[in-house]
Amino acid sequence: MADAGSQRSLAIDNIGSLITNDPELGRGPLGIVENASVVIVDDVVEHVGAAGAAADQRIDAAGACVLPGFVDSHPHLVFAGDRAEEFTARMAGRPYDGGGIRVTTDATRRTPTDVLDRLVRQRLVEAHQAGTTTIEIKSGYGLTVPDEARSVAIARAHTTESTFLGAHLLPVEFEGRADDYIHLVCNEMLDAAAPDAKWVDAFCETGAFDVDQSRAVLVAGRAAGLGLRLHGNQLGHGPGVQLAVECGCASVDHCTYLTDDDIAALAGSDTVATFLPAADFSTRQPYPDVRRVIDAGATVALASNCNPGSSYTTSISFCIAVAVRDMNMTIDEAVQAVTLGGATALRRNDIGRLTPGSTGHAVVLDAPTHHHLAYRPGVPLIRQTIGPLAGGRPHPDH
Ligand code: NIG
Repeated sequence: MADAGSQRSLAIDNIGSLITNDPELGRGPLGIVENASVVIVDDVVEHVGAAGAAADQRIDAAGACVLPGFVDSHPHLVFAGDRAEEFTARMAGRPYDGGGIRVTTDATRRTPTDVLDRLVRQRLVEAHQAGTTTIEIKSGYGLTVPDEARSVAIARAHTTESTFLGAHLLPVEFEGRADDYIHLVCNEMLDAAAPDAKWVDAFCETGAFDVDQSRAVLVAGRAAGLGLRLHGNQLGHGPGVQLAVECGCASVDHCTYLTDDDIAALAGSDTVATFLPAADFSTRQPYPDVRRVIDAGATVALASNCNPGSSYTTSISFCIAVAVRDMNMTIDEAVQAVTLGGATALRRNDIGRLTPGSTGHAVVLDAPTHHHLAYRPGVPLIRQTIGPLAGGRPHPDH
C-alpha cells in the first residue's frame, strides 16, 4: 500500500469476477479472479488480490464484474453533421461506397473550431459513459492543409492517440488528380499535421487510394516520425492487408474481406487485425470470420469506428455483441479484443489490463460476469467507468 499521506488510494472491492487479462493472476487467458479487489494509487494499479483490501476510498462492486477500461483504437470523432439520410437509403438497398465522406468533409470545413471541439467533447462523454477509457481519434474530414491541421490539433487536445488521415478520400477539387493530392498529403499537409499527430493512416481501397498512393503516405509518415496504421479490405478484396504487413503497420483496420494469404501474412507479423463490427452492421457488409484469423495465430482487436457514415456508435458493448453473434468470436475473445487487443493495436502495454503497474482504468458492470456484454445486447450495463478519458493537452487556439 502506498503512503496514504502522500497519494490517495482507491480500492474497488467485492468484485465478483475481475478480468485482469493476465493468465498468471487468474483463470484462463482473461486471468479471471473471483471475489477480488483492485487497489489503485495515483492512477496506477498497485495491488490485485482477495476482496477486503484497505484504501483511502472504496468503491463497492457488490459482486459485479470489473474489467479493464475499453481501448477504442479506431474512431473518427472530428466531424460535423450527420448522414442519417444516407443510412436510411442504405437500409432501403443503396450500397455503401465511402463517397459520403465528401458530404461530411463539406460540413466539417464549414464548422468553426470551437463548435467542432465541442462536438468531439460530446462524443467523448458518450464513449466514456459506455466504458471507454482510451481512445484514438483520426482527422480525415478536412482534406485541405489547414482543415487537416485543425482536425489533428483538435484530436490531440483530447488524446495522445491522434491520427493524421489526410488520405481518407480524394477531395472534389482534386478530381482526376489523385497523385497531385497524394503529393500534397505527403508534403505540405503532413508537415502541418505531424506536430500534433502520433499516427498516420490511409484508406487503401478501390474508390479511395491505391496501393502505391497508400504506400507513399505511410512511407512519408514514417519519415516524419509517425507510427503507421491503415484502412484496408473493407469493401472488397485488395492489397491493404499485405501493404500494412509490408510496412510494419501497428494495425490494419476493417479486414472484412480476407484471403488465406492475407490471414497468413497477418499471422506472421506484428500487425494487429482490427475488426469493426458496427461498420459491417451499418453498411450491410458480410461479417468477416474472425475465428479463422485467431486460429491462424494473428492478434486481433475490435473497435467502434465511430463516424457519421459507416458506423455512428461509440458503444463497445454493441461491438462485442455483434462480434460474438456474427463474427465467430467467443465472448472471452471479444472482451480481450476491446481491451488488450485495442492496446496492442496502439502499441501500448500500460493499458487494456488490470495488473500491478498498469494504468488503473476500469469498468464496473451492472452484471456478475463479462458474458452479459454479449448476452444482454442493447442493455446499458456500464455501471461506472473508473479513470478519465483523457490524455490530451490544451491546444493554444482552444
Ligand atoms: O472507417 N472507410 C473509411 N472511413 C470510415 C468511413 C467514413 C465515412 O463514411 O464517413 C470507415 O468506415
